[in-house]
Amino acid sequence: MAEVRPHFVVNASSGGADWAVTAEGPVRLATAAVKHGSRLVHVSSDAVFSGARVHYDETCFPDPVTPYGAAKAAAETGILAVHPEAVVARTSLIIGYGLSKHERAVRELIAGTRDGALFTDDIRCPVHVTDLATALLELASLDAVGIHHLAGADTLSRHELGVLIAKRDGLDVSRLPTGLRAHSTLPGALDVRLDCQATQRKLSTTLRGARQFCTTPA
Ligand SMILES: NC(=O)c1ccc[n+]([C@@H]2O[C@H](COP(=O)([O-])OP(=O)(O)OC[C@H]3O[C@@H](n4cnc5c(N)ncnc54)[C@H](OP(=O)(O)O)[C@@H]3O)[C@@H](O)[C@H]2O)c1
Repeated sequence: MAEVRPHFVVNASSGGADWAVTAEGPVRLATAAVKHGSRLVHVSSDAVFSGARVHYDETCFPDPVTPYGAAKAAAETGILAVHPEAVVARTSLIIGYGLSKHERAVRELIAGTRDGALFTDDIRCPVHVTDLATALLELASLDAVGIHHLAGADTLSRHELGVLIAKRDGLDVSRLPTGLRAHSTLPGALDVRLDCQATQRKLSTTLRGARQFCTTPA
């Protein structure tokens, strides 16, 4: 930071549930951004929410139910405490070009090289990586501060998303195993829908829904 003195920094790092990387690292980065006069746009997650109220806009307070969600929520609070001009942008499942972990999982489940199932009761608002990146750069260039939501316009289950990806890639949809998250031991929220209306109004970038962006080849 001292050497480059960037106008702005987009922090898209993640260390999963590792507290030092996911919670503390971004706060150190925010401290450095203040010191060097850099704008900061930090990527956060819908995992900061429990799903208890299903619909979450930018004014909702985090109530995480996983170690990863808790680390992301702590980073949000710490960043805005040391750098009140920073942007915290929460997003959802990131999809694009066949390269995301979610698209890889669909291919492997259909090929039978991976165990598991795609949940029909696990609801999110997937976003295309290009829409997300463009919106992050747009937020960096605006005088936006504080919490923003950047998720896709469509709400769908992980299984519905898997079906869209499989169809787009010409794969056999009938081979996709389904399951219920409620019946699994996996911790985490069931239904989290990021309401992005307030953020979308500030942007010229359209945050497309998965039903739209999955109809074109990866
Ligand atoms: N993927 C999703 O569906 C999703 C959903 C909601 C929110 N998010 C958020 O979106 C952002 C991007 O997610 P992603 O899935 O693209 O993450 P990812 O694939 O796991 O990438 C994580 C990045 O963080 C870097 N990183 C890990 N440990 C680091 C450390 N100690 N110091 C510096 N960099 C470190 C990694 O660098 P190396 O490559 O050098 O290891 C990697 O480039 C994250 O903030 C994540 O929390 C993701």
